[in-house]
Amino acid sequence: MCGIVGYIGTKDAREIIFNGLKKLEYRGYDSAGVALVNKNKIEIYKDKGRVNHLEEITDFSFNTNFGIGHTRWATHGKPNMINSHPHFSNNKRFVVVHNGVIENYKKLKIEKLADYDFYSETDTEVIANLIEHYSSDMSTIDAIRKTASILEGSYALLVMDMMDLDTLYVAKNKTPLLIGKSEHGITVASDSMALVGYADSYMYLNDLRFAIIKKDRVILKDILGFDLDFEMQDLKLTNLDIAKGNYEHYMLKEIDEQPGVIRNLIDKYFVDEEVNIDSEILSKIRLADRIYIVACGTSLYAGTVSKYFFERLCKIPVELCIASEVAYNMPLLSKNPYFIFISQSGETADCITVLKKCKKRNLHTLAITNSLNSSIDHLADDVLHIFAGKEIAVASTKAYIAQIVVLSIIAKGVANNRKTNLKNNLSKVALAIEDVFNNKNLIKEVAKKIVNAKDAFYIGRGIDYYVCQEAALKLKEISYIHTEGYASGELKHGSIALIEEGTPVIAICTNEETNMITRSNLIETVSRGALGIVISTESLSQTSDDIVISDVASYLTPLVSIVVCQLIAYYVSVLKGNDVDKPKNLAKSVTVE
Ligand code: M6R
Repeated sequence: MCGIVGYIGTKDAREIIFNGLKKLEYRGYDSAGVALVNKNKIEIYKDKGRVNHLEEITDFSFNTNFGIGHTRWATHGKPNMINSHPHFSNNKRFVVVHNGVIENYKKLKIEKLADYDFYSETDTEVIANLIEHYSSDMSTIDAIRKTASILEGSYALLVMDMMDLDTLYVAKNKTPLLIGKSEHGITVASDSMALVGYADSYMYLNDLRFAIIKKDRVILKDILGFDLDFEMQDLKLTNLDIAKGNYEHYMLKEIDEQPGVIRNLIDKYFVDEEVNIDSEILSKIRLADRIYIVACGTSLYAGTVSKYFFERLCKIPVELCIASEVAYNMPLLSKNPYFIFISQSGETADCITVLKKCKKRNLHTLAITNSLNSSIDHLADDVLHIFAGKEIAVASTKAYIAQIVVLSIIAKGVANNRKTNLKNNLSKVALAIEDVFNNKNLIKEVAKKIVNAKDAFYIGRGIDYYVCQEAALKLKEISYIHTEGYASGELKHGSIALIEEGTPVIAICTNEETNMITRSNLIETVSRGALGIVISTESLSQTSDDIVISDVASYLTPLVSIVVCQLIAYYVSVLKGNDVDKPKNLAKSVTVE
């Protein structure tokens, strides 16, 4: 969950590394550090806090064309200066930045490095010292390979060697690393965003790959030390794709992009009225007697909404699987299971663990991701992309919408149902979301009402309840108000005890069948002091409702009601003065289990 960048070439390494780290801060922002070559020395600057702070404490007076950098989401040890990367080996010959988790680092300390001193609480120092340990009688690349062969866990590593300040070494296993090339040098980073502007082509490293990088060439090796051929692909991402534009926050920009994302998906996945998805994928799903959806967080909640589509439209039962749970507790599988993995980043460690287990058992796997060339893309049998464009705010918004849209199109393709005019219905959804944007002032008023709450509830039934789960996650992660998404009928079986004078309870009422009963459940909480707030659709609305959304096909209402909830969360977070795009304790891409 950290971001790493390295550069070796003829340009200013400091500029490339700092710009890269700023783009990678979404991966973690507890601390940051750089190691820069200054003539024949390596200088390290690092501290707790953001990249901007690192910039302030870094010496900019010398020229440097070679360096490595890191932005950290703390796993082993507190976010402080000592635990920040880069880390030296004991004799200060090697300098390492690391993204990932070494599971057996304590054992390795005892068994291999008993004579070494450790200054930080990190697992990374073990890597630096193992490389030092093995380098006494082998080359640096061999020492790195030897070290990798005894590491258990995940790593993307950049290594500098004081004895050879013309070479950058890299190693990769289970966590992403890309090598970008341009006329002036080589840039290595955890995400292609950091390569933009500094590389014309790039390659995505596979697991257990190692590279020796000079300013004008890359030598790729496998774990046994054999040289490997490789191809670079064009880097298509541009600075425009990742710019914030006139927005104060990426989150609001990404919310506003949602109608466009839907229209883009209609173009990608429909030819006229027909679903344009590989017919083999659709056939495989048709043969399934149960679909297992594996995901985490927002992606899991998008999967939850799709349960409605697959079960109603395709008559295939769906089981939702929290990736971190099924990783070690696989459910009893049906005879013909079909696995769908949903992940915006395509790098979520919990999903990768399950995906690998599925592959070992030869189970059919489909990945739905937003990241071409991600680990999950590479591992799954089939892949469908959500084409939402880079999502940078930690709180996921447009990916959720895009995932649901793609899942609805898959379900239509599987059902081969000509009666549902999904394409037209999705176009109406895009318009209905634009109507929500016209009501931003009303939504701000709702945000003002709940900004000082300690606890809050979203309640609904059926498909509205599914939205409540995602709405609650949005509110809690960026406003820090403890929020639960509850099935409205379930409240009185315990949690209603938490309702106090003024506790906001937001009911989502978009479904004809459950509208009145959800409203009754809301009244039960209001009678106990709750502040009742209603989000409803035009045809079900009552005069006192707070936010009314336009009518769309009933199975697609989550795509509109969630936008109201995303905006509520956004405005509450802004009112509280929180860091909307980088909420505390979180990182965008969760690459550790
Ligand atoms: O990249 P993924 O979709 O696999 O990420 C899964 C979750 O970590 C993610 O959806 C998380 O819950 C969101 N940042 C919440 O807004």
